[in-house]
Amino acid sequence: DQARQIQETLAEFRLSKSQLLEVKKRMRVEIERGLKKESHKEATVKMLPTFVRSTPDGTENGDFLALDLGGTNFRVLLVKIRSGKRRTVEMHNKIYAIPIEVMQGTGEELFDHIVHCISDFLDYMGMKSARLPLGFTFSFPCHQTSLDAGILVTWTKGFKATDCEGEDVVELLRDAIKRKEEFELDVVAIVNDTVGTMMTCAYEEPTCEVGLIAGTGSNACYMEEMKNIETVEGTQGRMCVNMEWGAFGDNGCLDDIRTKYDQAVDENSLNEGKQRYEKMCSGMYLGEIVRQILIDLTKRGFLFRGQISETLKTRGIFETKFLSQIESDRLALLQVRAILQQLGLDSTCDDSIIVKEVCGTVSRRAAQICGAGMAAVVDKIRENRGLDHLDITVGVDGTLYKLHPHFSRIFHQTVKELAPKCDVTFLLSEDGSGKGAALITAVGCRQRELDA
Ligand code: BG6
Ligand code: GLC
Repeated sequence: DQARQIQETLAEFRLSKSQLLEVKKRMRVEIERGLKKESHKEATVKMLPTFVRSTPDGTENGDFLALDLGGTNFRVLLVKIRSGKRRTVEMHNKIYAIPIEVMQGTGEELFDHIVHCISDFLDYMGMKSARLPLGFTFSFPCHQTSLDAGILVTWTKGFKATDCEGEDVVELLRDAIKRKEEFELDVVAIVNDTVGTMMTCAYEEPTCEVGLIAGTGSNACYMEEMKNIETVEGTQGRMCVNMEWGAFGDNGCLDDIRTKYDQAVDENSLNEGKQRYEKMCSGMYLGEIVRQILIDLTKRGFLFRGQISETLKTRGIFETKFLSQIESDRLALLQVRAILQQLGLDSTCDDSIIVKEVCGTVSRRAAQICGAGMAAVVDKIRENRGLDHLDITVGVDGTLYKLHPHFSRIFHQTVKELAPKCDVTFLLSEDGSGKGAALITAVGCRQRELDA
């Protein structure tokens, strides 16, 4: 009977093919809403224009700085791109910590910290006087009016610095550079991580016209026809659109598949009511869903001898890397128990079986709904091009995709099932979004010279 009740709890997370097709269909509706002039203001999936009009063509050239803010690591990079027959990209980078007080302090503190890290990096590289062009990977929703202007719509994930929402983050960065009075930089482009990832992968593989992040957060971008992007002047060619699909569901359209555990995760978060889809399928939240289920099962006496420990009450204990370990099929149950022990959870063998099943159920649903979203995107591109069959490559990055033992496989399988007219190749980004940001910066610099 206990086993039956546990299965009933988990059954809500097990989505049928028809439910997944419904998710795909609703994503398509929200995509159209975000692209259309009359509805984009109310749209939850914002479909933000990026002013990136093509993927790299190999003629990009020069030395660039890149910043990469918003994922697990904050990086400053120097990227040297050489065009020609033997194109090369050489990268140097340093990772810096962003303390939680800085992520959630004032905007000025955050940007001063960023500039402090750039300063350290320039010293390290011995390049303080170079006035390099810079590409800023900033992995949050921004309203762009050009390559080098981006107004932060809202913070997402773990960031909550004051006085930034509604401001142009390029200006915030330039102001902080001026305050420091140590070096000059030319901020040329602001780039979402999905876009940086797409460009990184497209440099090697020209059929790559979609970018996906399954990491701390979840999001995608793709090359859309200009004539379909009613929020930008012009009808010729294509432009990359940063979908900001994490906000899918914020109008209630996923309520029928959200569980009470999803609601609890939302209520416990920094941005209640927002990023509902992201909260069902990205690394920052999967462990939280697991934790909510475990708390409930413990309260009902099915786990941990009915005792809710302090650990279980702690936000964020189940990081992606732990979930990934727990779900690894190479681990014996005894090792699962050892991991739980490390986290401070005393488990029996039966407990560890249940925990592993909870993790598996939550991550499977994540991979499936993420796959349903991607199926909507590739089918949209196929229809844009009037094709019965589309071959396309998706550039992917993110800790969930890279570390989790099953996520990528279930995700691929779902895309295949839900978009049978598309042959999708997934290309793992090896160099992060910084390289892509530098490529975009190179194009931005060349365009400026042409305009001048
Ligand atoms: C990397 C990017 O490629 O992927 C990051 O360089 C990005 O900026 C990241 O945010 C996503 O992964 P995660 O798991 O670190 O959020
Ligand atoms: C969040 C951000 C989005 C980013 C994604 C992945 O959803 O809003 O801009 O691309 O996380 O990092």
